[in-house]
Amino acid sequence: MTQKRFANQTVIVTGAGEGIGYEVARQFCAEGASALLNDILPERAAAAAEAIASETGAPCIPAAGDVADVAVVRALVEQAVARFGQLNVCVCNAGLTSWGDFFNYEPADFERVVSVNLRGSYFLAQAAARQFRAGGSGGRIVLMSSVTGHRAVPYLSAYGMTKAALEMLARNLVLELSPHGITINCVAPGAVVTPRNLNDDLDYEARWGKLIPVGKAIQTADIAKAVLFLAAPESAKITGQAIVVDGGWTSASPIPDMDYGKDYEN
Ligand SMILES: NC(=O)c1ccc[n+]([C@@H]2O[C@H](COP(=O)([O-])OP(=O)(O)OC[C@H]3O[C@@H](n4cnc5c(N)ncnc54)[C@H](O)[C@@H]3O)[C@@H](O)[C@H]2O)c1
Repeated sequence: MTQKRFANQTVIVTGAGEGIGYEVARQFCAEGASALLNDILPERAAAAAEAIASETGAPCIPAAGDVADVAVVRALVEQAVARFGQLNVCVCNAGLTSWGDFFNYEPADFERVVSVNLRGSYFLAQAAARQFRAGGSGGRIVLMSSVTGHRAVPYLSAYGMTKAALEMLARNLVLELSPHGITINCVAPGAVVTPRNLNDDLDYEARWGKLIPVGKAIQTADIAKAVLFLAAPESAKITGQAIVVDGGWTSASPIPDMDYGKDYEN
C-alpha cells in the first residue's frame, strides 16, 4: 500500500472552522496528516475537528483563539508539539476581510485588520520557524494572501495592503529560513465560494463565474490543493513565491467596449 503524502506529519491551520481553512485541514488529514485546527470561535473549531476526524480518521484537535493575540499563536505551536510530538507544516490562513472606503476608514478598523492579517501571520510563522529550527528537520510555512494584494478592488485598501505585505514577508524570509530547510510561500486566492461569501451574496458563484476567464468561481478545494502542493516534498526548492489561484482574473485587464476582435468570437 502506498503511503499517504502527509503520513506522520503534523499541520497547524488557523481559521480552520469554516471556508478555505477547513478544506485545507480536511485535505491534509485525508492525506494522512494530524492537524491542529484553530478558530476564533471555539464551537466552530471543535465542530471542524470532530467532522474532519470522523471523515478521515486523522487525529485532529481544536484550538480556539484569536490569531491577533501573539500569546495565542505561540500556544498553537506548543499545543501541536505537545500533542503530536512534532510540527511539519504551518498554514497561516486566518484573515479578516475588512471593507471600507478610504476617506472614512477608522483607525480601529485599520488596527484590527493589520493585527489579524499581519501580526497573526507574522508571529505564527515566527513560532513555527523557531520550532522547525529546533527540530532540525525543516518545515513548511504557507501564508494566505489574496488577489487583492495584486490588483485594486474597491474599498479593500487596508486589506489589500496586508495581503501584499504577506507576499513581501515570504520573499524576505527566504534569507533567514532557507538555511534551516524551511520554505515559506503564499497562496493568493481569487473569488472563492465560501459560506461567508455566499452569506453576503447568494448569487456569488454565478456572478464571479461570468467575470473570470475560466468561467467559474474558485472552490475551496482549488485553494487547498495549492497549499498541499507547497507543503509536499516535491516543492522543497520553491520558496518566497506566491501562487495565484484565480481562474485567470488577475491576468486580464478591462478593455473599452469596442468591436475589434468580433471576427474571432466563437
Ligand atoms: N474567501 C475568499 O474569497 C478569499 C479570497 C482571497 C483570500 N482569502 C483569504 O483566505 C483566508 C480564509 O478566507 P475565508 O474566506 O475562508 O475566511 P472566513 O472569513 O470564512 O473565516 C474562516 C474562519 O476563520 C475564523 N477566523 C476569523 N477571524 C479569526 C481570527 N482572528 N483568529 C482565528 N480565526 C479566525 C472564522 O471564525 C471562520 O471560521 C483569509 O486569509 C482570507 O483573507 C479569501
